Amino acid sequence: MAEEQTARDAKLVQYLTEAYTTEKQLETALQAHIGMTSRAPLKKRQQEHLRETKRHAREVEKRIKKLGGQASTLNEIATEATKRASSLAGKAMAAAQGPLHAVRGTGAAEIQLKNARTDLQSEAEEIAHYTIIETLAEAVGDRETAQMARSIRREEERMAKFLERQIPVLTKAVVTEEIPAAERNGGARRRNSRSRTRARTAARSGASRPGGSRSSASRRRTAGKSK
Ligand SMILES: [Fe+2]
Repeated sequence: MAEEQTARDAKLVQYLTEAYTTEKQLETALQAHIGMTSRAPLKKRQQEHLRETKRHAREVEKRIKKLGGQASTLNEIATEATKRASSLAGKAMAAAQGPLHAVRGTGAAEIQLKNARTDLQSEAEEIAHYTIIETLAEAVGDRETAQMARSIRREEERMAKFLERQIPVLTKAVVTEEIPAAERNGGARRRNSRSRTRARTAARSGASRPGGSRSSASRRRTAGKSK
């Protein structure tokens, strides 16, 4: 009946199956993360990458079947990934809404930051998967698989770059949401230098102004220095 699978195809199927597993897990994780995201540019990109991720899984699945992989194995992986990712998403939501929320400071901004961190880890894993598959496929002369791996890897790299740029933005949102203005060092320094500029301007235009504004600027300056 079925032909004996070559060592070459078996090895390709092995690594393609691992990539497929990551794609299916990311598919459900991304769906959950989209539901927790309020920032429009991030949400839009997550939705776009969810569509890409679904396509990646379909393309990889096709290659696996072409190389003699088992459809039943793929179905098991997909079902398992759905179960695992939805339980993880459930835990994240429970943590955000539960009594620990106030204590741990896990606000909306922090959830989005942590999801972006997880997603960046997933992208790094996927980049590694497709680098392996591309190299392996080239080494055994499977051009079609190598080409597919290369084009998927490029999309993963674009998503990883986007997330790398988002992480500082999301970190600043956590600072704004959770740290009082007086405790933000950079903010205090900027305020002090603005006060000094205002004091200098007031001193220059000196005679035309009553002493009030100048002395309040000096007071702010002194307060800043005493800290
Ligand atoms: Fe992907």
